[in-house]
Amino acid sequence: MPIPSRAFATRLITWHAAHGRHDLPWQNTRDPYPIWVSEIMLQQTQVGTVIPYYERFMARFANIRNLADADESDVLAHWAGLGYYARARNLHRAARRVRDLHGGVFPADRAAIEALPGIGRSTAAAIAAFAFGQRQAILDGNVKRVLARCFGIEGFPGERAVENELWALAEALLPDAKVVPVYIQAQMDLGATVCMRAKPRCAACPLADLCIARRENRVASLPTPRPAKPVPRRETAMLILMAGRDVLLERRPSSGIWGGLWSFPEIAAHDDAVAVANIRLGVRGSSGREMAPLEHGFTHFHLTIHPRLVEVRAKSRRAAEPGQLWMPIEDALDAAIPKPVKTLLQRLSETHA
Ligand code: ADE
Repeated sequence: MPIPSRAFATRLITWHAAHGRHDLPWQNTRDPYPIWVSEIMLQQTQVGTVIPYYERFMARFANIRNLADADESDVLAHWAGLGYYARARNLHRAARRVRDLHGGVFPADRAAIEALPGIGRSTAAAIAAFAFGQRQAILDGNVKRVLARCFGIEGFPGERAVENELWALAEALLPDAKVVPVYIQAQMDLGATVCMRAKPRCAACPLADLCIARRENRVASLPTPRPAKPVPRRETAMLILMAGRDVLLERRPSSGIWGGLWSFPEIAAHDDAVAVANIRLGVRGSSGREMAPLEHGFTHFHLTIHPRLVEVRAKSRRAAEPGQLWMPIEDALDAAIPKPVKTLLQRLSETHA
C-alpha cells in the first residue's frame, strides 16, 4: 500500500493550526540557541515542567558565550530539579565546543549539529529544521508512537531494525521544506496531547481515519513494548523423608522465599539426598529416588525443584526439634505450605495410598 504521505502531513499541519502549541517560550524564533536549550530540556521532561526551568536558565545564560564561559557548577545549579544531569554537562561542553571550534556560531548543518555532545539524530534534525529551515525528519519517542500506530508497525522501536524502518517512514512522509518546521511541531504536539501512550484521544485525532492501529483495534498494543528480560532460572532440591505415611516438614526461615512456611527440607541440587538425610537429620534411609521435577514461577525468577524421596524405617530423634515435624501426609496438606510442597504432597498421597 502506498503511504499516504501528503494526507498525513496535510492533516497534521491543518490540525496544528487549530490545536497545536504556538506560544511556547522557545517558539517564534530562528535563533538556534534557545531552540537547542529547549530541545535538550524537552528530551526527558514534559513541556509544563520545562517552562520555568527554561526561563531561569535563559535569564542566567542568555547566549552560547555566556553558557560556554560559565562554571559547570553554575550550569548544574540552574539544572537542579530537572534531572538527567548528563544533559546539562553535555550542553555546557557543547557550548564550549561551539565557542572554541565554531567561532561561537552554532553550526547550521545537521551532521555538524549531531557531532556536538548530547545531540542525537532526532534532536539535531529538530534544531536544523526549526532554526535553519532544513528539510529534516525527526523521530523522538512521541513520533515513534504516532508512526507505529498510524502505520501499524510491529516490533519494539528500541530495536535497530524497527528504528530503521521508522526512520525510513519518517523520511518518506516529509513534506516540502517550507512547511517542515510546523509539520515537526505538529507531530510533537500530537504525540504529547492526542496520541498519548495511555488513553489516547483517538476521537480528536486528525489521523484517525488513516490509522491502522485504530482500524485493527491495536492502539493499546502499539508501539510494541520493550521485550521482557528473560527471567533468571534457579535450581534447588527438596528432600522428602517418608516413614510410612509420615513426612518430615521443616519451618523455613522467616526471611526469603516462602518465609515462615512449612516445607520439605531444601538441599542443594547436587547434594546426595541419602547422605544429607543421615548427616543433617540423623535418619538412615535407603536409596534416594528422584521424582519428576516441579516448575515454579516467581515474579523475578523461575525455580526448578528436584524432589528426592528417601524412605526411612525409623523417624529421627533429632527431627523432633522445634522447627521440624513428622506428620501424616493428610495433616501436612492442611499446614501452611507453599504451592509446590502441596503439589508434592498430593503426588505422594496418590502414590502411597
Ligand atoms: N518535545 C520535544 N521538542 C518539543 C518542542 N519543540 N515542542 C514541544 N514538545 C517538544
